[in-house]
Amino acid sequence: MSRKPFSLVGLDHVVLRVPDMEKALSFYRDVLGAVEERRVDSFGLVQLRAGQSLIDLVDVGTAWLRAEGARPFTPEARNVDHICLRIEPFDEEAIAAHLRSHGVEVGERGMRYGAQGSGPSFYVRDPFGTVVELKGPATPIEADSPVLKTERLVLRPLRMTDAEALFPAFSDAETMQYWSHSPLKSIGEMREIVARNLPPQNRANGSFAITRDGGLAIGCVNFYAERDSISGLGYMLDKAWWGRGFVAEALRAAVDYGFDTLKMHRLWLEIDPRNHASVRVAEKAGFAVEGHFRKSFFLNGEYLDSVYYAILYEDWLKRRG
Ligand SMILES: CC(C)(COP(=O)(O)OP(=O)(O)OC[C@H]1O[C@@H](n2cnc3c(N)ncnc32)[C@H](O)[C@@H]1OP(=O)(O)O)[C@@H](O)C(=O)NCCC(=O)NCCS
Repeated sequence: MSRKPFSLVGLDHVVLRVPDMEKALSFYRDVLGAVEERRVDSFGLVQLRAGQSLIDLVDVGTAWLRAEGARPFTPEARNVDHICLRIEPFDEEAIAAHLRSHGVEVGERGMRYGAQGSGPSFYVRDPFGTVVELKGPATPIEADSPVLKTERLVLRPLRMTDAEALFPAFSDAETMQYWSHSPLKSIGEMREIVARNLPPQNRANGSFAITRDGGLAIGCVNFYAERDSISGLGYMLDKAWWGRGFVAEALRAAVDYGFDTLKMHRLWLEIDPRNHASVRVAEKAGFAVEGHFRKSFFLNGEYLDSVYYAILYEDWLKRRG
């Protein structure tokens, strides 16, 4: 058997044909608590977020499904239109070759909308005729907004072209001493990190470049591991600019944005306790220490301690007076 050129990351979304949208919404949204995220009225489509995944409800009464001969739901009739599996990596040729080698007919590749935004996908059918969509990662977008301005800094969305300016910091042993991975060796690795941190298309979070005037990146602040309105934050500054209070200033702006615009509930930082400058930055930005985890982080053959800092929405409101 040939080796698979990808692995399954998770279920991206399911699409259900429903005969009565209001009834369906009152169950999935109101009873189960899925959150309405997007509507495409011309398709009779309502997309509901369920954690990392989406539940798409499609009204069978709309023209495009009727044209396909879709019948309203009855216990006998199929009510699942298709399931979508997120796969990585998305090497089109390798995937198509693999599927064809197993006698699977591969549908046309298209850019389709899923839980992380628009990305490439193929439609195939399982042996019983159920349509399975195999979906690659959402194609990141380079955004011009939001821009956060502080007294001395401009935070703008990270762009691919920031890789060059950030590489000196991310490849420097002293700067990376307390980071979560070793110094980078190549600009290619830097580009991969920047690409991973461009904002996903349907999320407001992502990474900001720290700049003096909106131009050259001298560092970055990023939201990560976001779920349920709880997010981690990380920061990095080129050492030419250390000791001027820049990161504390940038972090305060990111925290304001997190609570004010992203409607976060909790923001946290994981800091190596030996990183005194970072501990000060956390304190200056209003984070409170929550716990010291002993030997909880494995890096370069060593177990290291981590200290968790957090700020809650109510703490932030109090700080703002
Ligand atoms: C940690 C880092 C973000 C700090 O940024 P910065 O802009 O220089 O920080 P600030 O100027 O806002 O504040 C630094 C504070 O730490 C203090 N500090 C700096 N080095 C220190 C040390 N060795 N011991 C104790 N305090 C120290 C400074 O005096 C200052 O405190 P003050 O404002 O009360 O005087 C920056 O050094 C960096 O990017 N490091 C590499 C990446 C990194 O470690 N990121 C954090 C991962 S959790």
